Amino acid sequence: MEPTPFFVAGRRTHGVDEVTVHHPYDGRPVGRTTLATADQVEAAVAAAAGVAATAAALPAHARAAALDHVSRRLAERAEEIAALITAENGKPVKWSRAEVGRAVSTFRWAAEEARRDSGELQRLDTDPAATGRIALIRRVPKGPVLGITPFNFPLNLVAHKVAPALAVGAPIVVKPAPATPLSALLLGELLAETELPEGMFSVLPLPNERAAELVADPRLPVVSFTGSGPVGAAIRRAAPEKHVTLELGGNAAALICEDWAGDEDLTFAARRIATFANYQAGQSCIAVQRVYVHEWLYDGFLPRLVAAVRELRTGDPTDPLTDVGPLVSVDAARRVQAWVDEAVAAGATVETGGERDGATYPPTVLSGVPRGAKVCVEEVFGPVLVVDRVENDGAGFAAVNDSAYGLQAGVFTRRLDVAFAAARTLEVGGVIVGDVPSYRADQMPYGGVKGSGVGREGLRSAMDDYTEPRVTVLTGVQL
Ligand code: SIN
Repeated sequence: MEPTPFFVAGRRTHGVDEVTVHHPYDGRPVGRTTLATADQVEAAVAAAAGVAATAAALPAHARAAALDHVSRRLAERAEEIAALITAENGKPVKWSRAEVGRAVSTFRWAAEEARRDSGELQRLDTDPAATGRIALIRRVPKGPVLGITPFNFPLNLVAHKVAPALAVGAPIVVKPAPATPLSALLLGELLAETELPEGMFSVLPLPNERAAELVADPRLPVVSFTGSGPVGAAIRRAAPEKHVTLELGGNAAALICEDWAGDEDLTFAARRIATFANYQAGQSCIAVQRVYVHEWLYDGFLPRLVAAVRELRTGDPTDPLTDVGPLVSVDAARRVQAWVDEAVAAGATVETGGERDGATYPPTVLSGVPRGAKVCVEEVFGPVLVVDRVENDGAGFAAVNDSAYGLQAGVFTRRLDVAFAAARTLEVGGVIVGDVPSYRADQMPYGGVKGSGVGREGLRSAMDDYTEPRVTVLTGVQL
């Protein structure tokens, strides 16, 4: 098996040191690539800086054509790419298929945004002294982007860095997660099929320790990072003068409000929460981790939740019927086990769950967990749910907010006043009414407050992030 090439300034190449990518489910090798050398990193960054002016001047049709091409090719190769995601990440193939479908739409949406982005015309003749003046406001790229991407969505979270960069005409250098470089390299292959100018993109497999040299490089003035809180904080400290977008973790909560009381309502909420606490083995920043239930409903809800969690099929992620596969590594599963053990030692009850098996950790529901336990306050990033009762909806809002994070929250209610109170009160980037917090449409603004990060992704939001307004004032013009 030849190592998969990586991309320096759009050209396929190999480094010297080889790395093997393993299947998280059974540890078998699923691919190989090589690490970029210091000279190759330098060539990628120099090319990005060198092409920046040309890229910014690319007409909309050229940017949109490249984005449309990638979208189309992802759709054509969807099944193969889904298998690749499952092989390197371990997520059940049904979720890998969903990820490919989302990446298709991420690129398509970026193409559409590139076409409709016409800037803004502002009249200035609101003041007598400015009669005959208008302002033309266009957004121009801040410069080449550094995208540092995580393992949990090895295709679509790369797409969320690359597609908006290309849409605004900014070159991008991507450093994919060391555990899952292959999907990003496949995306590089599709980008290499386009007419984009040389230097517009590079995909560099590098160990995490070597990200610092890219973060420090002044030729990459924009850094878009998705990953852990401590790494995000270190990036901010290391590059205070750069524009930094951070998509960090969360310990997303769902709240079952007083009015969500019917049998069908409770069963629906239980099923949705069971599914979205455990999809991708909980390795999503918006996977449900904490559930707060109005105390009148708690005793009816808990058995439904436990039953729904027990119905999930855990096992081989290549089986289309599997709901829950392995975590990304045995070490990750061991950490989850340790956090559950800590909660149990502090008095928590295991309602369902069991023993770790290699990298696989069974879907687990805990009740009676002390609020200070790691499974409540930290991001578990594993298939573990903590359920607790709250006195009323207001106490539920307070419990959701009792977190260092604030990415998204789900509020099960049909009452408009409660929905608006949630939207006003909850300290999060997004509130999902009538469903779990784990909902993301790729065009919508996505990001968090508090420890969950700064800035927003979602095509339009990321395009705004990668650009700054430039105003042209015209004189002697009448509107
Ligand atoms: C994340 O884990 O932050 C991404 C979630 C998603 O894109 O669905």
